Amino acid sequence: MSEKPSVLVVDDDESFRSLVADRLTRTGHRVAAAPEGESALTLLEGVEVAVVDLLMPGMDGLTLLKRLRTSNPDIAVIMLTGHGTIDNAVEAMKGGAADYLQKPCSLAEVELRISQVWEKSRLRKENQQLRAALQHVSPYHGIVGRSAPMQAVFELIRKVKDHPTPVLIEGESGTGKELVARALHFDSTRKEMPFVAVNCATLQETLLESELFGHKIGSYTGATQDKRGLLEIADRGTLFVDEIAETHPNVQSKLLRVLESGEFRSVGDVKEKKVTVRLVAATNKDLRAEVGKGRFREDLFYRLNVVSIRLPPLRDRGDDIALLARSYLLRKGRTIGDGAMATLMGHSWPGNVRELFNTLERAVLFNSSGRIDVIEIPSGTGAPAPKDGTLEEVELAHIKRVLESVQWNISRASEILGTSRRNLHRKINQYNLKK
Ligand SMILES: Nc1ncnc2c1ncn2[C@@H]1O[C@H](COP(=O)(O)OP(=O)(O)OP(=O)(O)O)[C@@H](O)[C@H]1O
Ligand SMILES: [Mg+2]
Repeated sequence: MSEKPSVLVVDDDESFRSLVADRLTRTGHRVAAAPEGESALTLLEGVEVAVVDLLMPGMDGLTLLKRLRTSNPDIAVIMLTGHGTIDNAVEAMKGGAADYLQKPCSLAEVELRISQVWEKSRLRKENQQLRAALQHVSPYHGIVGRSAPMQAVFELIRKVKDHPTPVLIEGESGTGKELVARALHFDSTRKEMPFVAVNCATLQETLLESELFGHKIGSYTGATQDKRGLLEIADRGTLFVDEIAETHPNVQSKLLRVLESGEFRSVGDVKEKKVTVRLVAATNKDLRAEVGKGRFREDLFYRLNVVSIRLPPLRDRGDDIALLARSYLLRKGRTIGDGAMATLMGHSWPGNVRELFNTLERAVLFNSSGRIDVIEIPSGTGAPAPKDGTLEEVELAHIKRVLESVQWNISRASEILGTSRRNLHRKINQYNLKK
């Protein structure tokens, strides 16, 4: 960006036009000038500020303003309202002019206004860029991620968060399903309403049923008083049903009914209750496959699967591993050395973000300096090798994965693989590996 803006002067008044153009050129501006609108529109290349007379033969100033705004909204337009009526100025400002100036006016005044609107639009642009950059790096409701698959997840959350339809979140263990469920609620218009979570894997069937739907006093031994179910507690908010694949068929059919009509009956009750709850369900199983095996109701699956958010495994998120590690360590007041980071990047993280954070927690615990230089990953959690592969196939797959994880940085890859750079090059040739 140069010091002075590039200016376009459009005025049918020949002497005024050339005076302004001369003055601006002398003070270091790049200047283009036109006597009327049509030719002005052919001179927009690189223009940052336009000074436009309101009354001109042919296309009038307001029309030109409109055309300028549509062809390049970044151009700041100053209107010259030669005829002193405030109406014209108001009209111009409404049409998106940055400022207006009443003729007659001094050349110094024209120059001053140009530099003012230029400064303003420069600040606005900088602001926009900063905001865009911030949006990129700051986590979305606590969810750290800059990789393309995670950006797609954020976009989907934003798109569906305010709808009443249920959402199914699928993903391997530790990929952040619960965080997504929370974002769906706390970024939505329901955020002032309750967010209630229940984990179906930790409760046996009858207990889960009474947790979800409530029970009447005396409905079973131990039911010493009426109990409101979580559905009722979550009314008008969100109920997060975690590990939904683990639910018993009886609970599945009751949930289906809630999804269809909002109605349910507490255990031991004859009265119907009705709620308006947004249901968000999560599973680390392939729910469709569970349907195929007869373990999950097909109709409930289709009801839930209207919107499905699939969380990618951490190994498919590229640089997010480094981003997540840095953001975790920042909170613990630690930095990380290149070698340790390469170890993190080279691992396949079958336990996903949870495993990454656990590994870092351990590293922090054993670290007395401020910088983590060594990362130990417990054995048994390494990359899944191809099933029934030959030794060569397994080696090939492993080398390839490590190379990709460090963007083909040979030094780093050989460090991770515990071999010399020369040996690694030999293997790359042997297996004909390419970037
Ligand atoms: N993208 C992320 N950014 C920051 N923290 C994350 C991210 N993903 C997961 N975590 C953290 O990792 C841990 C596991 O996440 P979460 O409990 O949401 O996983 P999950 O998919 O529900 O796993 P499971 O299926 O085992 O219940 C949590 O501590 C969570 O805060
Ligand atoms: Mg979970």
